[in-house]
Amino acid sequence: MSTIHVPVLRDQVVELLAATREGVFVDATLGLGGHASAILAAAPGLRLIGLDRDPRALELARERLAPWSDRVCLVNRSFADLPDVLDELGAGRPAAILADLGCSSLQLDSPGRGFSFLSDGPLDMRMGASGRTAADLVNEAGEDELMRILWEYGEERRARAIARAIAERRRRRPLTRTGDLVEVVLSVLGPGRRGRIHPATRTFQAIRIAVNDELGQLERFLEPAAERLAPGGRLAVISFHSLEDRIVKHTLRRLEGQCTCPPDLPVCRCGARTLVRRLTTKPIRPSEAEMRANSRSRSARLRAAERVEDGT
Ligand SMILES: C[S@@+](CC[C@H](N)C(=O)[O-])C[C@H]1O[C@@H](n2cnc3c(N)ncnc32)[C@H](O)[C@@H]1O
Repeated sequence: MSTIHVPVLRDQVVELLAATREGVFVDATLGLGGHASAILAAAPGLRLIGLDRDPRALELARERLAPWSDRVCLVNRSFADLPDVLDELGAGRPAAILADLGCSSLQLDSPGRGFSFLSDGPLDMRMGASGRTAADLVNEAGEDELMRILWEYGEERRARAIARAIAERRRRRPLTRTGDLVEVVLSVLGPGRRGRIHPATRTFQAIRIAVNDELGQLERFLEPAAERLAPGGRLAVISFHSLEDRIVKHTLRRLEGQCTCPPDLPVCRCGARTLVRRLTTKPIRPSEAEMRANSRSRSARLRAAERVEDGT
């Protein structure tokens, strides 16, 4: 396998999830199977259902998981469809569910996938094989919509100016390459400074999140996943930016029965109920050594919860 994706917080995930020992383990973001292989090796009583939107990731994971092929079932679906997938497979209630959000190194390091501002490629950014590409989005979305995406999903302070520059550029010629988008961003933000993040980082993050509806998918996944867990079953989620982490944090809190409504609301509208017990009140972060060895782990935050016996 030429591309290596180093699984982030692997030992901590194994410790949390392999403890469940028996039953079905769902890896909702299988990627290249790094976490899954470690869990299959550590817990011989677990069978894996591995989901990924990306068919190429599943092909590579299948090779890697060959030693455990009799305990593995791989499905090319979004984790937002998890309840349907479990029903279709007659899989009952899982003992453990993992979601390691975002992109894999396979995706980020393949110029043909269009995720990276560091190498020129088609402006695609889709994790799956269908749907609207990044080029469709930047060439067709209204200028206000582009500004909202850059502001909300990229926390880009110059969102308005970049959205305007994209709209001006596409009136002359559509943007089709990652290099086109980088050029537009640099025309607004300048070349950036050594030691700082690349000026196009936030724009690329924002467009990627929008193209893949990443936050919407996460919101549709979390509560049904917690609901479907077997009593005592565990859910672990690794997020890589504050927008994702906020959704995970608030959802787990709410599913522990804590109301997350604004304090001035007279009645609870957040749907707080007791489904889980949080295993992490503060997120688990990578050690200094892990961050040094794998720079992509720097922003990782792991949160986990356990299904309570009689949660409703
Ligand atoms: C960070 S990687 C996972 C890496 C994996 N844990 C490993 O150790 O190899 C994230 C993976 O999740 C997939 N993914 C992202 N959003 C998804 C979704 N909504 N449904 C299914 N897979 C998704 C991506 O295609 C990518 O392969």
